[in-house]
Amino acid sequence: MTTMDITPATGTTPAIPGPATPYQDDIARYWDQEARPVNLKLGDVDGLYHHHYGIGDVDQAALGDPGDSEREKKVIAELHRLESAQADVLLNHLGHVPRDGMLVDAGCGRGGSMVMAHQRFGCRVEGLTLSAKQADFANQRVRQLGIDSHVRSQVRNMLDMPFETGSAAGSWNNESSMYVDLDDLMAEHSRVLSVGGRYVTITGCWNPVYGQPSKWVSQINAHFECNIHSRREYLRAMADNRLVPQAVIDLTPDTLPYWELRATSSLVTGIEEAFLESYKDGSFQYLLIAADRV
Ligand SMILES: C[S@@+](CC[C@H](N)C(=O)[O-])C[C@H]1O[C@@H](n2cnc3c(N)ncnc32)[C@H](O)[C@@H]1O
Repeated sequence: MTTMDITPATGTTPAIPGPATPYQDDIARYWDQEARPVNLKLGDVDGLYHHHYGIGDVDQAALGDPGDSEREKKVIAELHRLESAQADVLLNHLGHVPRDGMLVDAGCGRGGSMVMAHQRFGCRVEGLTLSAKQADFANQRVRQLGIDSHVRSQVRNMLDMPFETGSAAGSWNNESSMYVDLDDLMAEHSRVLSVGGRYVTITGCWNPVYGQPSKWVSQINAHFECNIHSRREYLRAMADNRLVPQAVIDLTPDTLPYWELRATSSLVTGIEEAFLESYKDGSFQYLLIAADRV
């Protein structure tokens, strides 16, 4: 499977208002134009297209010798295994999801996590992205898999979700919460979740123990045109919006092997040093928070 098999489809994605602000227009444009090999080549491995990072130990045996002619291909497969492992950990924290329940992927990218969620729970999964290109891509992929009756992406603003109050059994942000005001985001998740429903986020956040955002964090913000929040802001926004943390897990040590491997590959984008240095100096953390809607 290669990205070439997925030709851009037109008219397949509901034409619903997406961006609400000039900033969101910028972000929609950013993701419409984004086609970095680090995302597409990894997705080509098995057709699960992610726009997030990986966790877990690198399987050195799977990489072969440094001189191996297939080495680069093996590195790509290994990086992809680690990014799917990250999505698996997020899904583990959704708890029990009934087959007739509905899940919301807020900021769904090309839909890799949505496909995995449907394969695991058998339920309906709704994705929201600002990018029409991403929504088309994700919708075409689920049609190929024959699961389009259950999995769908829409061009919508996640601060204004097109779902009834209390209609979702679970919802998540996988590396997509640094584009919005956290209070507005948690209020909207809280609205669409049923009481007892679970919200999960995996995100990079700056560490209040360090003091303020470091130069590396500022560099990451500039690179991705985003606004990384602090750990404290996440917990405060959740507490203010009836989301009670059930687990707070520091995944920083688990994501370092992914970044170290990526930094040695042909897929470098130039931001690897900022991630590695900020994780190591303690100014930046890779965090999972799972919260119950009460
Ligand atoms: C880094 S990508 C993560 C994609 C996906 N969650 C994944 O794990 O592969 C960030 C995503 O957030 C989406 N996004 C940013 N702001 C948004 C908003 N206000 N409403 C909906 N989606 C948004 C972007 O369109 C993009 O799909």
